[in-house]
Amino acid sequence: MSYYERHIFFCLNQRDSGENACAQHGAQAAFDHCKARVKAEGLAGKGGVRVNKAGCLDRCAGGPVAVVYPEAVWYSFVDSTDIDEIVESHLKKGEVVERLVLPDAVGR
Ligand code: FES
Repeated sequence: MSYYERHIFFCLNQRDSGENACAQHGAQAAFDHCKARVKAEGLAGKGGVRVNKAGCLDRCAGGPVAVVYPEAVWYSFVDSTDIDEIVESHLKKGEVVERLVLPDAVGR
C-alpha cells in the first residue's frame, strides 16, 4: 500500500515573460482552497490525500491544471466549486469528475 492513497499536484507555474502560465488563471487560489478542503474533510496525511505544488506540467494550454495519482487523471478547473467537486468525488471516493477531465490532446 502506498503512503498516500491519493496525491494531487497543482501546477503553480508563473512566467516572468508574461507568457501564458497556470498562475495567471487562479492556480494558487485553487491550490489553497484544495488544501484547506482536504484538511477540513479529515483526508490529509498518511493513508489519505496529499496536496502538492508543482512547476509546469507541460499542459499549459489547458491551464490551470492538476493531476491526481495513482489514477493519473488530469483536470482543468475554473473555480472553487470545481475544486470542491474534485475533493468530494475523486479525492474522497475515487470517482472521476468527468466534466473537468482535461482532453488528451491538450498540451503546451
Ligand atoms: S504553466 Fe501550468 S502546465 Fe505549464
